[in-house]
Amino acid sequence: MNPLDLYAKIEPLIGFDEQYEKLYQIYLDWLKSLHVKTILDVGCGNGKFLNHLQKNGFNAQGIERSLHMVERSLSLGVEASTKELKEFPRGSFDCVVAIADVLNYIPSDEVGLFFEEVSGVLKSGGYFLCDVNTLHGFESVADGVMAKEKDNLFLCVEATYEDKQLQTYITLFEKEGDLYHKEQGSITQYFHSQTFLKKIGIFKFCTTKSVSLFGRESDKTIMLLQKK
Ligand SMILES: C[S@@+](CC[C@H](N)C(=O)[O-])C[C@H]1O[C@@H](n2cnc3c(N)ncnc32)[C@H](O)[C@@H]1O
Repeated sequence: MNPLDLYAKIEPLIGFDEQYEKLYQIYLDWLKSLHVKTILDVGCGNGKFLNHLQKNGFNAQGIERSLHMVERSLSLGVEASTKELKEFPRGSFDCVVAIADVLNYIPSDEVGLFFEEVSGVLKSGGYFLCDVNTLHGFESVADGVMAKEKDNLFLCVEATYEDKQLQTYITLFEKEGDLYHKEQGSITQYFHSQTFLKKIGIFKFCTTKSVSLFGRESDKTIMLLQKK
Protein backbone atom coordinates (compact mmCIF):
# COMPACT_ATOMS: atom_id res chain seq x y z
CA MET A 1 0.00 0.00 0.00
CA ASN A 2 1.18 3.54 -0.82
CA PRO A 3 2.50 4.94 2.55
CA LEU A 4 0.28 8.03 2.14
CA ASP A 5 -2.76 5.72 1.90
CA LEU A 6 -1.56 3.81 4.97
CA TYR A 7 -1.33 7.16 6.80
CA ALA A 8 -4.87 7.93 5.59
CA LYS A 9 -6.03 4.62 7.07
CA ILE A 10 -4.47 5.25 10.51
CA GLU A 11 -5.27 8.97 10.73
CA PRO A 12 -8.66 8.49 12.49
CA LEU A 13 -6.90 6.41 15.17
CA ILE A 14 -4.20 8.96 15.94
CA GLY A 15 -6.71 11.46 17.27
CA PHE A 16 -5.16 14.93 16.99
CA ASP A 17 -8.52 16.48 16.04
CA GLU A 18 -8.40 19.16 18.75
CA GLN A 19 -4.93 20.37 17.69
CA TYR A 20 -5.88 20.36 14.00
CA GLU A 21 -9.07 22.34 14.72
CA LYS A 22 -6.95 24.94 16.54
CA LEU A 23 -4.68 25.18 13.50
CA TYR A 24 -7.66 25.45 11.11
CA GLN A 25 -9.13 28.37 13.09
CA ILE A 26 -5.83 30.26 12.80
CA TYR A 27 -5.74 29.64 9.03
CA LEU A 28 -9.41 30.63 8.64
CA ASP A 29 -8.96 33.92 10.53
CA TRP A 30 -5.91 34.68 8.41
CA LEU A 31 -7.68 33.87 5.13
CA LYS A 32 -10.64 36.09 6.05
CA SER A 33 -8.28 39.02 6.60
CA LEU A 34 -6.70 38.50 3.14
CA HIS A 35 -10.04 38.92 1.29
CA VAL A 36 -9.34 36.03 -1.09
CA LYS A 37 -12.12 34.06 -2.84
CA THR A 38 -10.65 31.12 -4.77
CA ILE A 39 -8.48 28.74 -2.73
CA LEU A 40 -6.60 25.53 -3.56
CA ASP A 41 -5.83 23.29 -0.55
CA VAL A 42 -2.75 21.23 -1.46
CA GLY A 43 -2.58 17.99 0.55
CA CYS A 44 -6.17 18.53 1.69
CA GLY A 45 -6.25 15.23 3.60
CA ASN A 46 -9.65 14.24 4.98
CA GLY A 47 -11.28 17.45 3.69
CA LYS A 48 -12.18 18.94 7.09
CA PHE A 49 -10.46 22.24 6.33
CA LEU A 50 -12.13 22.38 2.89
CA ASN A 51 -15.43 21.92 4.73
CA HIS A 52 -14.62 24.95 6.93
CA LEU A 53 -13.73 26.95 3.82
CA GLN A 54 -16.97 25.97 2.08
CA LYS A 55 -19.05 26.91 5.15
CA ASN A 56 -17.31 30.29 5.31
CA GLY A 57 -18.20 31.12 1.70
CA PHE A 58 -14.83 30.54 0.02
CA ASN A 59 -14.67 28.90 -3.41
CA ALA A 60 -12.29 26.08 -2.50
CA GLN A 61 -11.04 22.78 -3.82
CA GLY A 62 -8.36 20.35 -2.70
CA ILE A 63 -5.75 18.04 -4.17
CA GLU A 64 -4.23 14.98 -2.55
CA ARG A 65 -1.80 12.22 -3.45
CA SER A 66 -3.73 9.69 -1.32
CA LEU A 67 -6.86 8.36 -3.02
CA HIS A 68 -8.17 7.24 0.41
CA MET A 69 -8.02 10.86 1.60
CA VAL A 70 -9.73 12.14 -1.56
CA GLU A 71 -12.58 9.68 -0.98
CA ARG A 72 -12.90 10.88 2.62
CA SER A 73 -12.98 14.51 1.45
CA LEU A 74 -15.62 13.76 -1.18
CA SER A 75 -17.81 12.10 1.48
CA LEU A 76 -17.94 15.49 3.24
CA GLY A 77 -19.34 17.06 0.09
CA VAL A 78 -16.27 19.13 -0.76
CA GLU A 79 -14.39 19.24 -4.08
CA ALA A 80 -11.18 17.17 -4.08
CA SER A 81 -9.12 15.16 -6.54
CA THR A 82 -5.75 13.51 -7.12
CA LYS A 83 -4.83 16.22 -9.66
CA GLU A 84 -1.26 17.55 -9.57
CA LEU A 85 -0.50 21.30 -9.40
CA LYS A 86 0.77 21.36 -13.00
CA GLU A 87 -2.62 20.17 -14.28
CA PHE A 88 -4.28 23.49 -13.35
CA PRO A 89 -4.22 26.44 -15.76
CA ARG A 90 -1.78 29.19 -14.72
CA GLY A 91 -3.24 31.90 -12.50
CA SER A 92 -6.26 29.85 -11.36
CA PHE A 93 -6.38 30.82 -7.66
CA ASP A 94 -6.20 33.84 -5.33
CA CYS A 95 -4.61 31.68 -2.67
CA VAL A 96 -3.03 28.26 -2.09
CA VAL A 97 -2.87 26.66 1.35
CA ALA A 98 -0.75 23.68 2.49
CA ILE A 99 -1.74 22.79 6.05
CA ALA A 100 -0.24 20.52 8.69
CA ASP A 101 3.11 19.14 7.57
CA VAL A 102 2.45 19.10 3.79
CA LEU A 103 5.64 21.15 3.13
CA ASN A 104 7.58 18.84 5.44
CA TYR A 105 6.64 15.88 3.20
CA ILE A 106 8.66 17.48 0.38
CA PRO A 107 12.42 16.75 0.25
CA SER A 108 14.60 19.86 0.51
CA ASP A 109 15.86 19.55 -3.08
CA GLU A 110 12.25 19.49 -4.39
CA VAL A 111 10.87 22.48 -2.44
CA GLY A 112 12.05 24.93 -5.13
CA LEU A 113 10.10 23.08 -7.84
CA PHE A 114 7.07 22.82 -5.53
CA PHE A 115 7.18 26.60 -4.89
CA GLU A 116 7.41 27.21 -8.66
CA GLU A 117 4.34 25.02 -9.25
CA VAL A 118 2.37 26.75 -6.47
CA SER A 119 3.37 30.14 -7.87
CA GLY A 120 2.23 28.97 -11.33
CA VAL A 121 -1.37 28.31 -10.24
CA LEU A 122 -1.59 31.62 -8.35
CA LYS A 123 -2.84 34.88 -9.81
CA SER A 124 -0.39 37.77 -9.80
CA GLY A 125 0.01 38.94 -6.18
CA GLY A 126 -1.70 35.74 -4.94
CA TYR A 127 -0.93 34.29 -1.51
CA PHE A 128 0.56 31.00 -0.36
CA LEU A 129 -0.31 30.28 3.28
CA CYS A 130 1.51 27.23 4.64
CA ASP A 131 3.26 25.83 7.69
CA VAL A 132 6.39 23.93 8.65
CA ASN A 133 7.32 22.08 11.81
CA THR A 134 9.90 23.76 14.02
CA LEU A 135 12.96 21.88 15.28
CA HIS A 136 11.16 21.56 18.63
CA GLY A 137 8.13 20.16 16.79
CA PHE A 138 10.27 17.43 15.26
CA GLU A 139 12.67 16.72 18.14
CA SER A 140 10.33 16.91 21.12
CA VAL A 141 6.79 16.48 19.81
CA ALA A 142 6.94 14.10 16.83
CA ASP A 143 9.90 11.93 17.90
CA GLY A 144 8.69 8.96 19.98
CA VAL A 145 6.51 5.86 20.05
CA MET A 146 2.73 5.66 20.09
CA ALA A 147 0.36 2.68 20.31
CA LYS A 148 -3.42 2.83 19.79
CA GLU A 149 -6.15 0.22 19.78
CA LYS A 150 -9.67 0.63 18.43
CA ASP A 151 -12.25 -1.98 17.40
CA ASN A 152 -10.38 -4.56 15.26
CA LEU A 153 -7.31 -2.32 14.73
CA PHE A 154 -4.04 -2.16 16.65
CA LEU A 155 -1.58 0.53 15.64
CA CYS A 156 2.06 1.17 16.50
CA VAL A 157 3.85 4.31 15.28
CA GLU A 158 7.54 4.89 15.88
CA ALA A 159 9.09 8.18 14.83
CA THR A 160 12.78 9.07 14.92
CA TYR A 161 14.25 12.48 14.13
CA GLU A 162 17.85 12.49 12.93
CA ASP A 163 19.89 14.54 10.43
CA LYS A 164 17.00 16.92 9.62
CA GLN A 165 14.64 14.02 8.81
CA LEU A 166 11.77 12.47 10.71
CA GLN A 167 11.29 8.82 9.82
CA THR A 168 7.89 7.50 10.88
CA TYR A 169 7.41 3.73 10.86
CA ILE A 170 3.79 2.60 10.86
CA THR A 171 2.63 -0.93 11.74
CA LEU A 172 -1.08 -1.66 11.63
CA PHE A 173 -2.63 -4.97 12.72
CA GLU A 174 -6.19 -5.62 11.57
CA LYS A 175 -7.99 -8.53 13.21
CA GLU A 176 -9.71 -10.81 10.71
CA GLY A 177 -11.40 -13.66 12.58
CA ASP A 178 -8.72 -15.31 14.73
CA LEU A 179 -5.89 -13.92 12.61
CA TYR A 180 -4.22 -10.54 12.25
CA HIS A 181 -3.49 -8.91 8.90
CA LYS A 182 -0.35 -6.76 9.17
CA GLU A 183 0.47 -3.68 7.09
CA GLN A 184 3.68 -1.67 7.36
CA GLY A 185 5.01 1.48 5.80
CA SER A 186 7.19 4.48 6.52
CA ILE A 187 6.93 8.18 5.83
CA THR A 188 9.81 10.66 5.74
CA GLN A 189 9.42 14.29 6.72
CA TYR A 190 12.09 16.92 6.17
CA PHE A 191 13.00 19.88 8.37
CA HIS A 192 13.08 23.17 6.41
CA SER A 193 14.52 26.22 8.18
CA GLN A 194 13.11 29.68 7.52
CA THR A 195 16.50 30.75 6.16
CA PHE A 196 16.45 27.88 3.66
CA LEU A 197 12.89 28.63 2.51
CA LYS A 198 13.60 32.36 2.14
CA LYS A 199 16.70 31.65 0.04
CA ILE A 200 14.59 29.82 -2.56
CA GLY A 201 13.38 33.27 -3.55
CA ILE A 202 10.26 32.49 -5.60
CA PHE A 203 7.90 34.14 -3.09
CA LYS A 204 8.03 37.33 -1.07
CA PHE A 205 7.90 36.43 2.64
CA CYS A 206 5.20 38.67 4.13
CA THR A 207 4.98 37.44 7.72
CA THR A 208 5.22 34.39 9.95
CA LYS A 209 3.32 33.23 13.03
CA SER A 210 4.53 30.78 15.69
CA VAL A 211 2.00 28.22 16.80
CA SER A 212 2.01 25.84 19.80
CA LEU A 213 -0.37 22.95 19.23
CA PHE A 214 1.13 20.42 21.65
CA GLY A 215 2.41 22.44 24.60
CA ARG A 216 3.89 25.85 25.33
CA GLU A 217 6.84 25.93 22.97
CA SER A 218 6.29 26.67 19.27
CA ASP A 219 5.97 23.43 17.27
CA LYS A 220 4.89 25.00 13.97
CA THR A 221 5.47 28.18 12.02
CA ILE A 222 2.76 29.42 9.69
CA MET A 223 4.10 31.52 6.81
CA LEU A 224 2.32 33.98 4.57
CA LEU A 225 4.09 34.17 1.21
CA GLN A 226 3.09 36.26 -1.79
CA LYS A 227 3.69 35.72 -5.50
CA LYS A 228 6.24 38.28 -6.69
C1 LIG B 1 -0.43 15.45 7.76
S1 LIG B 1 -1.49 15.37 6.40
C2 LIG B 1 -2.38 16.89 6.50
C3 LIG B 1 -3.63 16.84 5.71
C4 LIG B 1 -4.55 18.05 5.76
N1 LIG B 1 -3.93 19.23 5.20
C5 LIG B 1 -5.08 18.30 7.14
O1 LIG B 1 -5.02 19.43 7.60
O2 LIG B 1 -5.59 17.36 7.77
C6 LIG B 1 -0.43 15.68 5.01
C7 LIG B 1 -1.12 15.29 3.72
O3 LIG B 1 -0.39 15.78 2.61
C8 LIG B 1 -0.52 14.85 1.54
N2 LIG B 1 0.59 15.18 0.63
C9 LIG B 1 1.89 15.13 0.88
N3 LIG B 1 2.62 15.59 -0.16
C10 LIG B 1 1.71 15.98 -1.10
C11 LIG B 1 1.82 16.56 -2.40
N4 LIG B 1 3.01 16.85 -2.94
N5 LIG B 1 0.68 16.82 -3.09
C12 LIG B 1 -0.52 16.53 -2.55
N6 LIG B 1 -0.69 15.97 -1.31
C13 LIG B 1 0.42 15.71 -0.60
C14 LIG B 1 -0.49 13.50 2.22
O4 LIG B 1 -1.10 12.49 1.47
C15 LIG B 1 -1.27 13.81 3.52
O5 LIG B 1 -2.63 13.50 3.39
